[in-house]
Amino acid sequence: MSADDPATEENIEVVRTLWEPHPAQKAIMEHPARFRVVAAGRRFGKSVMAAHLALEYALEHPNAVVWWVAPTYDQANSYGFDKIKPLASPDVLAEEPKRTKPRRFAFDNGSVISFRSAEREDSLRGPGIDFLVVDEAGSVPERAFTEELRPALSDTLGEAVIIGTPRGRNWFYRWFQRGKSPDHDDTVAFQAPTEANPHVPNSEIEDAKSDMSERRHRQEYGAEFIDDTGGVFEAVRDRVEEYDLPVDPDPSTAYAVGADLARFEDYTAIVVLDGDGRLVAFDRLQEVTWTRIQTRIEEFAERYAPAAVSIDATRDNKLVSDLEQSGVSVTPVNFTSKKEPMIENLVARLESDEITLSTDAPTLINELEVFEYETTSRGTVTYSAPSGFHDDAVDALALASHVLPRVRRVASKRGDDDENGRSGTSGNNSNGLKLR
Ligand SMILES: Nc1ncnc2c1ncn2[C@@H]1O[C@H](COP(=O)(O)OP(=O)(O)O)[C@@H](O)[C@H]1O
Ligand SMILES: [Mg+2]
Repeated sequence: MSADDPATEENIEVVRTLWEPHPAQKAIMEHPARFRVVAAGRRFGKSVMAAHLALEYALEHPNAVVWWVAPTYDQANSYGFDKIKPLASPDVLAEEPKRTKPRRFAFDNGSVISFRSAEREDSLRGPGIDFLVVDEAGSVPERAFTEELRPALSDTLGEAVIIGTPRGRNWFYRWFQRGKSPDHDDTVAFQAPTEANPHVPNSEIEDAKSDMSERRHRQEYGAEFIDDTGGVFEAVRDRVEEYDLPVDPDPSTAYAVGADLARFEDYTAIVVLDGDGRLVAFDRLQEVTWTRIQTRIEEFAERYAPAAVSIDATRDNKLVSDLEQSGVSVTPVNFTSKKEPMIENLVARLESDEITLSTDAPTLINELEVFEYETTSRGTVTYSAPSGFHDDAVDALALASHVLPRVRRVASKRGDDDENGRSGTSGNNSNGLKLR
């Protein structure tokens, strides 16, 4: 089959000349295998490459059925439809792009590209598919691919481009392995880091290291399939120094308090870090009343005059308001919904030596050492203690680490004022600051 209509020819020409694939994209785009499995880092240029492949296929093969499938319908629209729309000339379209669900381009040559989600409520059963794009394949459920999409390629001997950033060792990983295996001639696997895209500055890839773990960074930017489960804080021991707790308050720094409140039979854990990220106090209380917990946090607040107090307020907001009433300024955090990024952040801080722990907090160190991540088959990561262990101290440390940047700023301002012989706008330097 060929595209002999002049408008179609012209659109193919324009699309090819207006956009130049970078070398890693070119190798993938030119490969003849029926199934191309591409594990690539964030912003490698996966979606834009797949957009070109889908459009070119539709233009070059009259009456082709092309499907673009993403984990959610929004993703199919913003990474698929929105990227193809400016590339398809109105001269080759048989009708206005259809914007109702499922979105669709219908071409003069009879080809159709439609956009679907792999969400359970959206059936992917349909006609035979000639060309399939599965975008962000790591987050597409196995059922969608194995039971619905793969069979739709059988009668047509359709092609598929299965593309995404790795999300654990799920079906995407198995198809990736299939592509690497010499037993499957019809499948090829590519693996490419974000840096293979010359249009993404390396500084952006480096900067991302500051808020995610090294392991996560290898997955997101290095496109590595990391283990589904494992330890989170591998190198914690490196971050431990020998000194006693609690460390006396020092007015030339500032403090962050993190408190994870007891749920059910758990412990309440309280962590205090100074402006250098050094653990200065740690406490753990079990089966005590809310009043007792409140009093304990107030005691810490009085002692260290913290610049920020970060509290897990997922379940109980009364304690937060009670603390506020007694003059403690609290940053309530909905930890349950924020746990994943906050733990990632804590790992990044430990890995970049921004936090120092004390041998005098063995409970905290032990909790950190056993703490685990687990990747579900849908690619979602959860963090927790293995059964029989607690993670309140880890959570309290993550909460304190969360407000550390703010505390660091306050501390460095105090340090500056200290050096300049001033103690801030109040003019009050009678609080023990050393003057030079
Ligand atoms: N060949 C290319 N030429 C110019 N820019 C590109 C190219 N490939 C990708 N990009 C740019 O890189 C960025 C990431 O592309 P995108 O396809 O969204 O990545 P991914 O789907 O891998 O996250 C976008 O800004 C895109 O325009
Ligand atoms: Mg994309």
